Amino acid sequence: MTSIYSRITGTGSALPERILTNADLEKLVETSDEWIQTRTGIRQRHVAAAGETTGDLATLAAQRALEAAGVKASDIDLIVLGTTTPDIIFPSTACLVQHRLGANGCAAFDVNAACSGFMYALGIADKFIRSGQSKKVLVIGAETLTRMVDWTERETCVLFGDGAGAVVLEASAEPGIYATCLHADGGHKDLLYNPVGVSAGFTDEPNHGVRIRMSGREVFKVAVKTLDSLVDETLQAAGMQESDIDWLIPHQANLRIIEATAKRLKMSMDRVVVTVDKHANTSSGSVPLALDFAVRSGKVQRGQTLLLEAFGGGFTWASALLRY
Ligand code: ACO
Repeated sequence: MTSIYSRITGTGSALPERILTNADLEKLVETSDEWIQTRTGIRQRHVAAAGETTGDLATLAAQRALEAAGVKASDIDLIVLGTTTPDIIFPSTACLVQHRLGANGCAAFDVNAACSGFMYALGIADKFIRSGQSKKVLVIGAETLTRMVDWTERETCVLFGDGAGAVVLEASAEPGIYATCLHADGGHKDLLYNPVGVSAGFTDEPNHGVRIRMSGREVFKVAVKTLDSLVDETLQAAGMQESDIDWLIPHQANLRIIEATAKRLKMSMDRVVVTVDKHANTSSGSVPLALDFAVRSGKVQRGQTLLLEAFGGGFTWASALLRY
């Protein structure tokens, strides 16, 4: 019996129009372009307009991915959407996007794995295709993370941005995705979290207490160490070695974390896709945005081998090794 693989047949992305530069942030908090660039590699981020939602960005990214793949929305049989910033509590943003695309009837659900949301969604979608359950899947990572940003807190407000990316994943006799690895360790919850919610309750603080809490230095250390072992595990799962990878497409949180992973893989930075300078950390949006930029700019070519990885709140961490 021939194996079924899942293959990316189209990519798309969407960013809000408004750009907030480091110079703009210098007017809001005591910071400097120099500090932000040196510590993170970020120069600017996109910020959603009032009323512009995660679902708006996700829908646009999905439409572009469908167009690139030459697939009709009505042919999609599953939508998996990674997000930590859903439009409303329910229905899921995946359901809202499904209706706007005209893909009604297929299964659609959100995945909350913080910044690893898209990678989790991709891993799940791959399993649906490999099992024969689905043939054409929309996998989306979308966020309006700045809605959780406290613009008076310099430790966090310089790091995040809004955006969305999407891929169409189709069943194929050829790889495709070779391996995906998904992990979590809830024991690190207090290093990166947003502690309010429907069940735990909200507070009287500004924005009802909806605000990212992060111990930056500790997150940095665990992220570097964890990503090191994740890339080893992924190579092993796919039966490949470092030299087989054409492009590293990492989560775009911090250029120094990205450089550490590239070093571990013995890859020069000209084989690493970097968009953190333009987009900052868009959480679930980050990897599919970077992938779409690399595809549309002509960097990533058909037949090349890509390693995608992410790390985020939970902690969660996840990867995929694939032939594009
Ligand atoms: N501007 C100027 N100074 C600042 C700023 C700022 N925006 N923010 C902090 N500082 C100051 C601090 O107060 C501190 O001052 P002190 O030395 O007088 O106490 C000094 O800069 C150094 O602060 P550190 O936190 O030690 O700086 P560090 O080099 O660790 O960089 C950073 C901070 C950028 C947050 C880094 O730790 C980091 O990137 N961590 C990972 C965070 C991350 O990637 N989170 C997301 C991953 S998971 C996900 O995507 C959700």
